Amino acid sequence: MAYKDEKLDEEKVFKDPVHRYVHVRDQVIWDLIGTPEFQRLRRVRQLGTTYLTFHGAEHSRFNHSLGVYEIVRRILLNFEGRPDWNNDERLLCLCAALLHDLGHGPFSHSFEKVFKLDHEDFTKKIILGDTHVNEILKRVDLEFPQKVADVINKTYEDKLVVSLISSQIDADRMDYLQRDAYFTGVSYGHFDMERILRVMRPVEDQVVIKESGMHAVEDYIMSRYQMYWQVYFHPVTRSAEVILSKILHRAKHLYEQNYKFDFEPTHFISFFEGDVNLEDYLRLDESVVLFYFQMWADEKDSIISDLCVRFTNRQLFKYVEFNPNLQMKEWMELYSLFRDVGMDPEYYLVVDSSSDLPYDFYRPGEEEERLPIHLLMPNQDLRELSRESDIVEAISGKKRTDHKLYFPLDFVEALPDDSEAKARILEILNS
Ligand code: NI
Repeated sequence: MAYKDEKLDEEKVFKDPVHRYVHVRDQVIWDLIGTPEFQRLRRVRQLGTTYLTFHGAEHSRFNHSLGVYEIVRRILLNFEGRPDWNNDERLLCLCAALLHDLGHGPFSHSFEKVFKLDHEDFTKKIILGDTHVNEILKRVDLEFPQKVADVINKTYEDKLVVSLISSQIDADRMDYLQRDAYFTGVSYGHFDMERILRVMRPVEDQVVIKESGMHAVEDYIMSRYQMYWQVYFHPVTRSAEVILSKILHRAKHLYEQNYKFDFEPTHFISFFEGDVNLEDYLRLDESVVLFYFQMWADEKDSIISDLCVRFTNRQLFKYVEFNPNLQMKEWMELYSLFRDVGMDPEYYLVVDSSSDLPYDFYRPGEEEERLPIHLLMPNQDLRELSRESDIVEAISGKKRTDHKLYFPLDFVEALPDDSEAKARILEILNS
């Protein structure tokens, strides 16, 4: 029997708190799960620094990847035999779902920004490079690794396959919204996925929703909206993110200045030099990064040691609402006050902005084009969701942006009481 058709003698199941069970029958899927590259995802948290805000959020990208696989598996059970569905694409969909986040590094958000990396690029490299994952995919057929990479990269010719993994209502989002809600313990993020899976239909090159499922989809869109502001952009999580980025900046800066580290940044050197190969990338997971932070807490350099102590012991920066575009004068004054009292503003005065668009339909030519969600009407017409749903229409295309200024209030408070700078800093921050 061809490798692609091989089934395990007995189905394997993973107990999962969100989907109850994840079912594996295909030998290929089982073999992929067993590779070191996939197992590495156990050591990368799904939500980065969010565990410092919501202590339950310790779940990993491994959990999420299995979850996305399971959702796609269930969608395809429902698609089998329907006119627009080609079941030869089944294994491809399952592999792409399982591997879609394979290239995520430790605390990817900050790492990607500081070192100008792209996890999607690394996902491609792991799938196509000299890895265990590649070896297994090649056994299916020699073109298969490239197909999996194309689906994840959204360039695969069959757009129906792509839309299962990435669209405004895809398996990826349906898994992470529920999983992140479960592990953070918040009461947003819940919606009736079983219902949505039952009303999904393959129509030509996209997945659409039967009109009778519209309210379940509304719930899903609202839960996404809530999760963004209540969990993903939580200001305390962003404070931890800010400190993490500043540690990486400082370490890179010290390395470039030939600073003599007590604890050499061996695993980071290719990152500092902007020349990261796959092997280095895969070696640096979150347990390694956190180990370095503990070691660097004892460095002679007071900035890196302070930032590492803060991150390790969760002594985060405080924040105020602050829009530097509107408050340029205050920003410049704060900057020089911080410098005068010896708090390097490059590390201790940080503006961070977040923004999100909860749902958007296609507007040609715009920067972030998004494919709309279509409803399948009883007469077989397709209607864009926001034209039918008042709730979705109300939040469509509305981008919300939030600016905050982060700083170590404990340092400011420790300045002498008769310090004019201290009084002025507090005055600006409280205004
Ligand atoms: Ni994902």
